[in-house]
Amino acid sequence: MLEQFENIKKEISKDLKNVSDAEALLKVRVKYLGRKDGLITKLFDDLKNWDLAKKKEFGAPLNELKKLAETLVDETEKQFGVTQNTAVDFSVQGTPVLSGHLHPITLIQKEIEKVFWGLGFDIQLGPEIDSDFYNFEALNIPEFHPARDMQDTFYLDLALPKNQPGKHVLLRTHISNMQVRYMKEHKPPYAVVLPGRVFRNEALDASHEHTYQYMEGFVVGKDITYANMAWTLDYVMKEIFGQDVKTKLLPSYFPFVEPGAEMAISCLICKGKGCSVCKQTGWVEILGCGMIHQKVFEYAGYKQGEYQGFAFGFGLSRLAMMKYGISDIRLFAENDLRFLKQF
Ligand code: PHE
Repeated sequence: MLEQFENIKKEISKDLKNVSDAEALLKVRVKYLGRKDGLITKLFDDLKNWDLAKKKEFGAPLNELKKLAETLVDETEKQFGVTQNTAVDFSVQGTPVLSGHLHPITLIQKEIEKVFWGLGFDIQLGPEIDSDFYNFEALNIPEFHPARDMQDTFYLDLALPKNQPGKHVLLRTHISNMQVRYMKEHKPPYAVVLPGRVFRNEALDASHEHTYQYMEGFVVGKDITYANMAWTLDYVMKEIFGQDVKTKLLPSYFPFVEPGAEMAISCLICKGKGCSVCKQTGWVEILGCGMIHQKVFEYAGYKQGEYQGFAFGFGLSRLAMMKYGISDIRLFAENDLRFLKQF
């Protein structure tokens, strides 16, 4: 019997020497220690039938043999970097992976872009840092014109590059700065919208921000009319807010359009009945627009009277507030996950 144990010991050592990977090692483990047919396991099964004297004589050596076999196999296993505890429990619940999603302002921006894209508008971007020439002068707002005060401006302490027209460098206060830039480089007819950030030197409160997402648009051609503008903006608002929304144009003033207007939509929060968001009027002003002033076309190098066009510009937060029923503009920039997760 002891001799048999001795042979098994030798055989294990020999088998282990030939092992070259974890799979082969598993075979060796099963051969000797496998629960059903392992050689050593079987000896233990036999042990139950031995008489007491035999049990006393061979029980301890057999136990030793088993321990030795386990140690040898375990040690070899370590060489392959496998430990016995690597068993994977597939029933354990995984940690949920947090996936990102779009910010409500981005969502509404994409939606509006899609509507304009469907109407054949191009989508373009422009510089956030610009000169006072494109942001004001070329829009018929000369230096010292009181209209410059309509938008509190962040001026930057930077020198204007030599070949750039203008006097000061600033953060654009609207994307109307792209009107003359774009007009210079394209020949009408064209229709374009330009989304992006704009900056105003304003104190933060429930309805004002200093940095916000804005969209400018303009259409220029030979015979573009005010009616084209009214139809286009009404169509876009209905696409975004649903067919029941009402729009109206109110006279307004911007030096770069003539006539100028503001578009108001029926308040979606109170459905026109009057609430705090619409200041009890049932209407909310959401964009500035108008027929492009010939003076602007002149700055772009177009001949007086050759083209007509309309332009419009709006902040996206106001629209997002209407669409999602949000009453405080600051929520958009606070990055509170409890708020953002709802979109
Ligand atoms: N730029 C204007 C603003 O920021 C909006 C506007 C754009 C008005 C185009 C008329 C035409 O308030």
